[in-house]
Amino acid sequence: MRILTGLQPSGKLHLGNYFSAISKILQYQNKADLFLFVANLHALTTFSSQKELEENTKSAILDLLALGVDPDKTTFWVQSDVPEVTELTWYLSQAITVSQLQLAHSFKDKVAKGFQPGAGLFTYPILMAADILLYSADKVPVGKDQKQHLEFARDIAERFNASFGECLKLPEPDIDENTATVPGVDGAKMSKSYKNTIDLFASEKEIKKAVMSIVSDSKGIEEPKNPDESIIFQIHSLFLNSSEQSVLKDKYKAGGIGYGDLKKSLLECILDHFAPFRNRRLEIEKDPAFVEEVMNKGKYKASQIARLKIQEIRKKLGIYQSI
Ligand code: ADP
Ligand code: TRP
Repeated sequence: MRILTGLQPSGKLHLGNYFSAISKILQYQNKADLFLFVANLHALTTFSSQKELEENTKSAILDLLALGVDPDKTTFWVQSDVPEVTELTWYLSQAITVSQLQLAHSFKDKVAKGFQPGAGLFTYPILMAADILLYSADKVPVGKDQKQHLEFARDIAERFNASFGECLKLPEPDIDENTATVPGVDGAKMSKSYKNTIDLFASEKEIKKAVMSIVSDSKGIEEPKNPDESIIFQIHSLFLNSSEQSVLKDKYKAGGIGYGDLKKSLLECILDHFAPFRNRRLEIEKDPAFVEEVMNKGKYKASQIARLKIQEIRKKLGIYQSI
């Protein structure tokens, strides 16, 4: 079973990304053939500068390796390292209509927010379909916001196969409809666009600042507190098993402990949980030769598959290939 997914290097990773997307992807590593890439070509659709794209891409590689991506088990590469994907995007663009692309929620949302879209943002779902179909993925784990893009990928594959002959595998979406939304420090969905995140690899000082800024009600130390209404509790519970959660709940309900101390205890929990990952990241960062070797290996493995598939597709289309 080949599981494939891509992560855009569009900013720093936060607790919301970790407890939904990343922890789930890492679980697949030991039970399936995982294909994971850093989607730097997609990030071009919201490009701000050469420096930022380059830094974010490198940072995403380090983050994912530090969090546990094992290059011996997982095919891990950077999207642009396998240029066949852009060639396939062009071929697939014959298998989807403009009116279908105009229905894309993510495109419409960005335009509604006043973003001036380039044609690349409009054709973004075709590049995503190419990512998936080039590697014949069986299953694609993504967040709920990507559901429609996966439907496009399936439609494109179906239409392509019907027109040019069976050659693209239809991917199954893997979407947890009930993955809890991790709240940000202000209680809204944690998201880098809302600037309410607790970032995984920020400095201890920055994490402390974020945790101490979590919004709470004005109950005094002695008063009983309602854990179900507390953002501090909601975030803390992500790190706890169910019996630890009920112990913490009882602490809230009993009173005698203030929000300041509850935040300190959450801070400790976050720092403890991520300490091994932070140390590992520092080690990897000091070893660029290791990172290069890992990324070369991923590029090689992904390229081998991509090359064969693109040849098959060119043949189906009647694309001239000189020998
Ligand atoms: P952001 O909203 O910060 O831009 P992304 O859109 O890059 O985050 O999200 C990457 C992945 O993390 C997606 O699968 C998304 O569903 C998941 N994710 C992001 N924020 C949260 C959150 N607050 N709670 C749960 N999952 C989240
Ligand atoms: N569009 C996805 C996101 O923003 C990232 C992505 C690019 C992706 N290509 C993909 C996800 C292929 C799964 C499969 O989250």
